[in-house]
Amino acid sequence: MIDLKHISKWITVGGVRTFLLKDVNLSIKEGEFISIMGPSGSGKSTLLNIIGMLDGFDEGEYLFVHEAVHLLKEKHRSQLYKQYIGFVFQAYHLIDELTVYENIETPLLYQSVKTSERQAIVADILDRFQIVGKKNLFPSQLSGGQQQLVGIARALVSKPKLILADEPTGNLNSKQGEEIMDLFKKLNEEDGVTIIQVTHSEKNAAYGKRIIHLLDGRIEKEE
Ligand SMILES: Nc1ncnc2c1ncn2[C@@H]1O[C@H](COP(=O)(O)OP(=O)(O)O)[C@@H](O)[C@H]1O
Ligand SMILES: [Mg+2]
Repeated sequence: MIDLKHISKWITVGGVRTFLLKDVNLSIKEGEFISIMGPSGSGKSTLLNIIGMLDGFDEGEYLFVHEAVHLLKEKHRSQLYKQYIGFVFQAYHLIDELTVYENIETPLLYQSVKTSERQAIVADILDRFQIVGKKNLFPSQLSGGQQQLVGIARALVSKPKLILADEPTGNLNSKQGEEIMDLFKKLNEEDGVTIIQVTHSEKNAAYGKRIIHLLDGRIEKEE
């Protein structure tokens, strides 16, 4: 599903090149559950954003479902993203002007799901995440943990084949965090959803069947 070959990304400041990622090689098959770990600043978010086609790179090749991402036009990339990917952002990225309900509904609008069906799907996920009572509130009226739950609900609502989650439980309490991890496990095992998560928690990382360790923009080891 995902094939990263010799991927490097850098920034140049004052003529000096600083690598954000250096020669990253990674193949991920459909149905895998992967955890990415590493110290702050090691390139985890950069790597996840590249995998999610939200960010480019300077060297190497990236094949996503056999499509050469680096050669695709923006429109085609964005179609692939909408078709396959649910992204849980580290900083939530909710739309301030939309309510909780409308934020979660957005991916279904992109997929042209009918109104009645949309209402049923959103109602179901609000219920599952126990945020029915928050549906008419705006993101600024929610706690960090509640915003994170909305961000996760939005990523899952379109039943993506690939979930990319950047520290998805960083702002949740331990019970909520465990519920999200159990939900990921269920989606992976029962529905065959491919999951790539960034986490600082050993316990959450253990849900993955492969754990990739990043250090200074390189893959240091895999276990
Ligand atoms: N667009 C950018 N411009 C400059 N530096 C960046 C940019 N994006 C990331 N960085 C830097 O690259 C490094 C890796 O960032 P990031 O991928 O966010 O790390 P992590 O998610 O592992 O904490 C950090 O030192 C960060 O400050
Ligand atoms: Mg990060």
